[in-house]
Amino acid sequence: MKIRMLLGAASAATQIEGGGFKHTWSGWYDKGRIKDGSNPARANDHLNRWKEDIDLMSEMGIRIYRLGIEWARLEPNKGHYDAAALQWYRSLLEYIRSKSMFPLLTIHHFTNPLWFEEAGGFLKPSNIPVYLGFVDYVIRNLGDLVDEYITINEPNVFAVMGYNAGVFPPGLKSVPAAIRVMSIMASCHIQAYILIHKLRRELGYANTKVGFAHHARVFTPENKKNPWHNICAKLVSHMFQDALVRACILGRFIFPLRKYGKIRRGEYADFLGLNYYTRSTVSSLADGVNKNAPHNDLGWEIFPPGIAQCAAALYKLLERPVYITENGTCDNNDVFRCRYIYDHLKALSESGLPVERYYHWCFTDNFEWCEGENARFGLVHVDFETQKRTIKNSGHFYNAMIKNKCVTEDDYRKYVEPQEYKV
Ligand code: BGC
Repeated sequence: MKIRMLLGAASAATQIEGGGFKHTWSGWYDKGRIKDGSNPARANDHLNRWKEDIDLMSEMGIRIYRLGIEWARLEPNKGHYDAAALQWYRSLLEYIRSKSMFPLLTIHHFTNPLWFEEAGGFLKPSNIPVYLGFVDYVIRNLGDLVDEYITINEPNVFAVMGYNAGVFPPGLKSVPAAIRVMSIMASCHIQAYILIHKLRRELGYANTKVGFAHHARVFTPENKKNPWHNICAKLVSHMFQDALVRACILGRFIFPLRKYGKIRRGEYADFLGLNYYTRSTVSSLADGVNKNAPHNDLGWEIFPPGIAQCAAALYKLLERPVYITENGTCDNNDVFRCRYIYDHLKALSESGLPVERYYHWCFTDNFEWCEGENARFGLVHVDFETQKRTIKNSGHFYNAMIKNKCVTEDDYRKYVEPQEYKV
């Protein structure tokens, strides 16, 4: 199989850095809400081991890297920025570039500073300028080192997990609150898109690319002949992802979303960022899983054709290059990850879509939000006690694909053929 897209890796600040900053996830840990009791203050200690991590990434041939910044670290109190934190990010980005790697920077990835959360976070439209103030700061202070930005990661997952399912901070269980957060985040994305382009033009920076990372799934009725199951699949998909993506990339706010601020219809994505993991099988107005299909160690269905289906749905809305900003799986013993990667890349290659980049989620095993350290998604194994990094079998496979720009017959036989999914 030929590989025409660039293969890279993704991460998020809270999931790797460690350091105990005052943000919503340290607050969630303090409340005892991380399943295995692990503390995000540890994570991968990337704060101290960033050089080692970038060196390893570079050795593995990775040339495109999606990373995040920790808002609570850069702005520990409202309007007060930490010069040392900024310098740390500048050194990291300079080092990444010195290795001929290209950064794609995520400005917001699931974590709020506690001061922002206490002021109502993304539930309050009056906080939109606060988020935009941070975006402004990022562009002015890191804009010379980064051309490409993701404004917000997965507004739908952030909203649903934190405000409807109650398993992410702040732990609410309210559909109207989740809808409000999605609406406000979509409004934030559009205003950030406009701001980033305007500022960078003023500052004389070229090659700007801005988008958001959209979490999309395939929603399928449990029983295709059951009209209720069909209605549920369409409705859940609409509420979870379809309305949101129209709002974010086209400025079209349809039920149940509403816009906040002066927002015109337009085109608010220079690339289509897609995070794809799984398919949902529904028989009611809730999520569901097909139990008779292959699944990963968190019980998520493995459904490779879905990545191309979701990418095609995005491309139908707006014809832009597709970046797979996340795709990966929880495979604690690394026994099916090679097959998972191969099958998803194959589906993308055969789709005929302009898929330019694929960022694997994730580079090293890391702090997996409410699951803690027990859900391993990395190409590189991390022993959290000793912080030792070891390239996994799947990491070697990834490296070989990057080097050869294809999956050779030998590599297929070595890495993919022996692996089976679990049903
Ligand atoms: C998130 C990542 C997360 C991954 C696996 C995505 O929804 O953006 O932060 O680790 O899924 O759960």
